[in-house]
Amino acid sequence: MKESLKERIRLWKNLYINAFENAVNAIPNVEGVLLAYNTNIDVIKYLDKDDLEKRINQIGKERVFEVIETPTERISSLEHLFGGILRSIKLGKAMEWFVESEEIRRYLREWGWDELRIGGQAGIMANLLGGVYRIPTIVHVPQNPKLQADLFVDGPIYVPIFKGKELKLVHPKEAVKEENELIHYIYEFPRGFQVFDIQAPRENRFIANADDYNARVYMRKEFREGFEKIAKRVELAIISGLQVLKEYYSDGTTYRDVLDRVESHLNSLNRYDVRSHFEFAYTANRLVREELIGILPKFTSVGLNEVELASIVEIIGDETLAKEVLEGHVFPIIDAINLLMDETGIGRIHFHTYGYYLALTKYRSEEVRDALLFASLAAAAKAMKGNIERIEHIRDALSVPTNERAIVFEEELEKEFTEFENGLIDMVDRQLAFVPTKIVTSPKSTVGIGDTISSSAFISEFAMRKS
Ligand code: AMP
Ligand code: GLC
Repeated sequence: MKESLKERIRLWKNLYINAFENAVNAIPNVEGVLLAYNTNIDVIKYLDKDDLEKRINQIGKERVFEVIETPTERISSLEHLFGGILRSIKLGKAMEWFVESEEIRRYLREWGWDELRIGGQAGIMANLLGGVYRIPTIVHVPQNPKLQADLFVDGPIYVPIFKGKELKLVHPKEAVKEENELIHYIYEFPRGFQVFDIQAPRENRFIANADDYNARVYMRKEFREGFEKIAKRVELAIISGLQVLKEYYSDGTTYRDVLDRVESHLNSLNRYDVRSHFEFAYTANRLVREELIGILPKFTSVGLNEVELASIVEIIGDETLAKEVLEGHVFPIIDAINLLMDETGIGRIHFHTYGYYLALTKYRSEEVRDALLFASLAAAAKAMKGNIERIEHIRDALSVPTNERAIVFEEELEKEFTEFENGLIDMVDRQLAFVPTKIVTSPKSTVGIGDTISSSAFISEFAMRKS
């Protein structure tokens, strides 16, 4: 071992401080970013043991417990709802089930919430990139009711609207319409949360999704008819929300109808030299997942976690590698992202997991690592505060300890790759960047951290490489 753990942590501390300064100085260079497609209202409820047990006892504990073992993946009764919540707590896993019944939707509304936040990857990133980083941001909102528009913070956040034939950009609050409220009910629980004899191995959330628009990747008229004009106004684009697609719908349309439109958008973005990032959320349907891998060559960059990477490896690799990826060890993950780059030719892959991030790029640049470090600070700030309001919140995260367990991986990487230095490895035609992340021990909430990581890294890398 070259340095002691203490020395390594000190080296990373210096890299963190420099990365923060470099990123913050460069971010004003970004002239415009587009975020599409999923925006919704997240209502957040922090679960209370007594309340939850009372509600479950009222409807019958046995029937709810049956759902824990045989998950329905969708909600048309209270048993499904509470069974889903308990399953998520038991496994400590994030889950999202669609609410089919109007009666349950009413129940969820009446149950109430602690906080309202803008939701959906696009919505969350808009408040961060526009509201905190002050980058001019165009965001797609499938619906724009007042309740949702009011959740966008002030700042250069815009939705396109038609004034006659002309496309104008205005803040969502200036374009409110009497449209549907697309509500996702998010039930958060901390590590160790106990209900009956079930205990959460880690903090996480269960989402009851009562939103018929994002479920079909509904695109509003301005995006269907005015996309070329939108593409001309930005330098960067982040695409998300395609994870919900199904093979076919009751009206005879299929996922292909949506993907054709997405591909035409990507063609426009590429025509105007807009760099695009795809946020690869977990996609349950295997065929849709295959098709999403198929469109990756049209993107500049992709972001994913271990579950998403394993689900891709199941298709382009084999079961053994997929299993190893899920276990989180760094070498199989490096093999998997190299495989993904071989298969798709995409130029940048950003992998994030609890404790460390990797970025594999077809180019060499220290800014790739600095962007990951900046993203790790943003993630820690998001975990601490729930909502990042100012860049100072991100600076505060410099005091969060760096994950010591990832330092073991760093040592292993150093043994394997002799030219490994300051988190960067030259792999002949590719560069691999590795950073140990900041970990917040008792996060306020977990939703949206992944979005914060991927968007912060993508835009800050672009900004720093531009300057
Ligand atoms: P996702 O799995 O895409 O929702 O993103 C979650 C990511 O958030 C993980 O991969 C971690 O990197 C990060 N994360 C989760 N919990 C914490 C925490 N307590 N402190 C810092 N980062 C976290
Ligand atoms: C999913 C959920 C949404 C949440 C987002 C956070 O898109 O549907 O409610 O805000 O994930 O990443």
